[in-house]
Amino acid sequence: MAEEKAKRYVENSAPDDARAYSRGYEAHRVGISMQECVEYYSKWAENGKYDQDLCSKRYRGPVIAANVLTEHFCDKIPETKILDVATGTGLVGKELQARGFKHLDALEPATGMLEQARKTNIYTNLYCEFLDGKRLPIEDDTYNCCVTSGGMGEGHIPCHGLHELIRITKPGGLICIVMREEYLTHVKEYHERLEPLMKKLEDDGKLKQLSREIVSRYSYDNNGVVYKLQIC
Ligand SMILES: C[S@@+](CC[C@H](N)C(=O)[O-])C[C@H]1O[C@@H](n2cnc3c(N)ncnc32)[C@H](O)[C@@H]1O
Repeated sequence: MAEEKAKRYVENSAPDDARAYSRGYEAHRVGISMQECVEYYSKWAENGKYDQDLCSKRYRGPVIAANVLTEHFCDKIPETKILDVATGTGLVGKELQARGFKHLDALEPATGMLEQARKTNIYTNLYCEFLDGKRLPIEDDTYNCCVTSGGMGEGHIPCHGLHELIRITKPGGLICIVMREEYLTHVKEYHERLEPLMKKLEDDGKLKQLSREIVSRYSYDNNGVVYKLQIC
């Protein structure tokens, strides 16, 4: 079904749009491993290709994420400490900086992407690491917020990455996940697993789901889903 949708989009779009869509589709192809995924992104980052392809008319995730955080932290923006998880080239950081956020760190496993993020000079600490459940080199309760836009998908952040985000976010702080809605069912890792895990973590008193919002045109004409999860 996703394949048919992609084929239809590519056939009916201008060459630039079709090329950009195909590159995104390839980064999420069924069965892609985490290693293949980061190698793919590192190449995509070369010569500004990723930023051109995922310009704001095609991909609104970074703007959506930055607006959510701006509303949530409205009275304490300059002192809010944020980890941009799956930073990529730094599109989320750019939007956050434009809204007055100053304390931004980056976590990104693809060296090619992280190098682009470094060049923006937005991030203080840059961690070249996967969020994959293993312990990150970050102290407990470090951040007011961990945010990811576009970090969830086939071969991307696995469900159990949530546990580390809980550990490194301060009590009362926020995890904000912005992702394509259909990945909740199309990606095996998340199907009937991601939301049940969020529910279990809530039942266990680790977090509280403040909101779950469906947004239109997250990427192209695809809906997104935005989770705001508060650490208990
Ligand atoms: C679609 S890009 C999103 C980048 C950026 N957040 C943005 O909005 O442009 C997905 C990013 O997730 C990263 N990624 C993939 N698997 C990851 C993992 N397990 N942990 C952290 N980042 C991961 C990729 O390397 C890639 O840079």
